[in-house]
Amino acid sequence: MAVQSVESATTPVALGPAVALSCRECGERFGLGPIFACAVCFGPLEVAYELPAGDPEALRRRIESGPQNIWRYAPLLPVPADVADKPGLNPGFTKLVKADNLARELGVTGGLYVKDDSGNPTHSFKDRVVAIAVEAARAFGFTTLSCSSTGNLAGAVGAAAARAGFKSCVFIPHDLEAGKVVMAAVYGGDLVGIEGTYDDVNRFCSELIGDPLGEGWGFVNVNLRPYYGEGSKTLAYEICEQLGWRLPDQIVVPIASGSQLTKIDKGLKELIALGLVEDRPYKIFGAQAEGCSPVSRAFKDGQDVVRPVKPDTIAKSLAIGNPADGPYVLDIARRTGGAVEDVTDAEIVDAIRLLARTEGIFAETAGGVTVGVTRKLVESGVLDPSLTTVVLNTGDGLKTLDAVAAGPTVTIRPSLAAFRDAGLAAV
Ligand SMILES: Cc1ncc(COP(=O)(O)O)c(C=O)c1O
Ligand SMILES: [Zn+2]
Repeated sequence: MAVQSVESATTPVALGPAVALSCRECGERFGLGPIFACAVCFGPLEVAYELPAGDPEALRRRIESGPQNIWRYAPLLPVPADVADKPGLNPGFTKLVKADNLARELGVTGGLYVKDDSGNPTHSFKDRVVAIAVEAARAFGFTTLSCSSTGNLAGAVGAAAARAGFKSCVFIPHDLEAGKVVMAAVYGGDLVGIEGTYDDVNRFCSELIGDPLGEGWGFVNVNLRPYYGEGSKTLAYEICEQLGWRLPDQIVVPIASGSQLTKIDKGLKELIALGLVEDRPYKIFGAQAEGCSPVSRAFKDGQDVVRPVKPDTIAKSLAIGNPADGPYVLDIARRTGGAVEDVTDAEIVDAIRLLARTEGIFAETAGGVTVGVTRKLVESGVLDPSLTTVVLNTGDGLKTLDAVAAGPTVTIRPSLAAFRDAGLAAV
């Protein structure tokens, strides 16, 4: 598809309030199309909007009367106006759990919330980003949906493709957790294991786009990346709406490519600009696993450059050694007064158990990373316990069972005597 500069062409597709793609580095604008890098400076592109100006009360009422999923925010997303009527998984509006028991354990007094995205259709936040990418894929006439994935995205793409009537072919590192592989495979598309890390998979997919072999394929996180990223804004919208149209003071977000964190910041800024929430400071904290912590390392070293690493951690969903949005994450953490921190694999497992034991929420390893980092940041005094804090759980613990391998407290014969002998009876 030809790429036209916005000045010289009318936009070929209608994607709601989206008017152009703009370069995050030099600001050059391009028409809406399946492109992801600036033709001038090769910087990453993002969606630019003409957002509904005027009466915030009317917009708030319109949102609140919308469906109980991400499409309530359609006026702020690059999707057609009738998106809610199309066949899709309709993710979103997941629970914001007031985590008082966890707050007590961590010493947080200002209100602690867990945004629990394990409640999405394929049990991770990736359903949000895929839902937006599917609309772009439809608009651009793609027939096959594809992606490079650390596991959750593969499942989300397979499921969304099945429901929306696309073919799918997704690419993953060959050694992912069994739960994620099964979920990626069950929806009936092709699943290709690649011998290598996620970064190898991603590089391979970039080559495929430029080759006739990939003709007609929409890679949700490569040539549809500008649209895909916008799905993460809905996390920011929902958190504020669920807090009564109020900004949280602090948010703790996991980092793989860093896209989710940067788009949550974009979403919060939009809500302020639209007058939907009061304009006051908020801090964004990034969370990584120590075994794949290039952004955390750069933050601590005071660097602007993120040096790629070779991942080695149980948090495989966050195992991106060369995160595309890394430098933007550093900017946001510094600008908002936040930080980027990392935790060891043992701390991740402890945190998964802590969240399960205190709140009845079973997180995948990525959720262990955010809860573990929150605990560490409270202990070090970096995160202010007297402020309202939201911690993201982006995936379901059933996908990473091996991380917390556990069994019955005891196994006994089915008799009262055996139960008494086990020492668990109340008296
Ligand atoms: C469960 C989970 N949480 C968080 C992330 C981070 O996403 P991002 O690449 O937007 O930083 C991922 C990415 O795969 C993920 O699978
Ligand atoms: Zn540019």
